[in-house]
Amino acid sequence: MDMVKLIDLAFNVMKNAHAPYSGFKVGAVLICNDGRVFTGCNVENASYGLSICAERVAVFKAISEGYKDFEFLVLVSDSNEPCFPCGACRQVLWEFNPDLKIILSNKRRETEEFGLRGLLPRAFFSQKKDSAFFGS
Ligand code: THU
Repeated sequence: MDMVKLIDLAFNVMKNAHAPYSGFKVGAVLICNDGRVFTGCNVENASYGLSICAERVAVFKAISEGYKDFEFLVLVSDSNEPCFPCGACRQVLWEFNPDLKIILSNKRRETEEFGLRGLLPRAFFSQKKDSAFFGS
């Protein structure tokens, strides 16, 4: 799928966001190395702390379907400025690909690309000796 279609998809899934408390809707599309895509939107709750970001919804959907080789994340919001992934989402994304490419779009479809390594310097990683990611 080309980038224009992926951004269209992200704006479409953004419409499904449940964001009555912040009024800030976010749409995410995660693209796997085999081209498979998973979407997510933010889901808020009356108990505010239970709310979850669009990115983590997409990640957890993918993981639960057996996919974890993520190459790109497209993240869109209906805002003048692009919506950067929050710190919690950066850490969750890092778990699966520290080299993830992240494409952000504001409501005018002006895009910017970032690398996760640049957005999350000195990330936490497991130092358990038996971890497959030891030292990464
Ligand atoms: N939000 C996301 O979905 N992704 C982010 O990376 C930043 C914030 C959502 C969470 C909440 O529903 C709303 O935006 C306002 O913070």
